[in-house]
Amino acid sequence: MVLGLLMPKFRTIFSPCNREERDQNFESYWAFMQESSGEIIENEKTLVKKKNTLNNFQLQQIRSQSPLSDPEHFYRNYLRLIDDPQKIDKKTLLLTCIYKFARHEWVGISAAWDSIPSMAQAKTVKEKISRYHLCEEFCHARLFNEMFRTFHLEDVQWISPGKGTQWGYKIFPRLPEWVMSGPAFLSELMGMMFYLHLDRLLDEVFADEIEARDRLRQLLHEIMVDELAHIGQRRNYMGNFSIKLSKSMFRPLLLGFFRSIPEAKYFFNFEQMIQDGLAFDYNHIPESLIERSWVPTYCQNAHVAGNNTYAETLSMPKSN
Ligand SMILES: [Fe+2]
Ligand SMILES: [Fe+2]
Repeated sequence: MVLGLLMPKFRTIFSPCNREERDQNFESYWAFMQESSGEIIENEKTLVKKKNTLNNFQLQQIRSQSPLSDPEHFYRNYLRLIDDPQKIDKKTLLLTCIYKFARHEWVGISAAWDSIPSMAQAKTVKEKISRYHLCEEFCHARLFNEMFRTFHLEDVQWISPGKGTQWGYKIFPRLPEWVMSGPAFLSELMGMMFYLHLDRLLDEVFADEIEARDRLRQLLHEIMVDELAHIGQRRNYMGNFSIKLSKSMFRPLLLGFFRSIPEAKYFFNFEQMIQDGLAFDYNHIPESLIERSWVPTYCQNAHVAGNNTYAETLSMPKSN
C-alpha cells in the first residue's frame, strides 16, 4: 500500500511489453476509439462524435477582441517565412508556426488517405484503427482552422506541397510496418511535445486576449486527448528492440523537423522538448485529459489506483 502511494501512476512510454499484451492493447484501443469517436462518416473524413464537438465549438463561436495587428503578415508568411520574424508581432508569428506544424500533418494524412484500405476493405483491427486514426487527424485540421478563425483569420487554406514532398508522404504508409513504426511513433511523441510546450506559451503570447486564449486552449486540448492515445497506439506497434532503438532517433528527428519551421526557434526550447519526450510517461498530463484518453496497459502501474482493475478501466472508454 505504501509502495502504491509512492509509485507514480504511469510508467515510461518506452516500457517493454510482449506480443500478447500488444495484441490485447490493439483490441482495447479499437474499443476505446469507437466509443470515444462514434461512427465513421468516410465520405466526409470524419467521425460522428468528433463532428458534434466541432459543431459545438462553432455554435458557441469566440473571436478575439482585437484582430491581429496586421493579418496580411500572417497570410504572407504562413506557407513560407518571407518577412523578418523579428518584425512580426508575436501572436501572428506563433499562429504561422502552428499552421506550419499542422500543415505537415495535413499533408501526411491527405497522402495516406488514398494509400490505406477504406473501412469497407479493412479486414484487421489494425486496418480499422488506421482508418479511424486518419479521420481523427482530419478533425484536428478542422480544430486548427477554428484556432485561426478565433483570431479572425477566415481565409486559411490547406495547401499541398510540391510533387516531391507529396510523393514522400505517399510512400510512407506503404512501407513495411517494421520500417515505419519507429518514425510514426516518434512523430506522435514529437507532436505531443509541441502541444505541451504550446499550451504553456498561450498564457504568455495571448495574455491580453483571455477569452480567445481560453478557446485556443480548449481546441488544443481536444486535439491532445486524441494525440495522447495516438502515442500509446503507435508505441504498441513496436517490439522491445525497436522501442529501445527509437530513443536514439528522437533528437535528429525533432531537430530535422523543426528546421522546416523557422519561426519555431523563437518560441520553443528544442533541447527541453527532446528531454521531455525521452522522459515521457503521462504523469504530468492534466487528469482532465488523461481521463478522456487511452494509455497502454504496460505504461500503467496498475495497483496505484488502489485496485487491480485500474489498468483495465483506464484503457476502456469513459462514459461522457
Ligand atoms: Fe495529429
Ligand atoms: Fe496523431
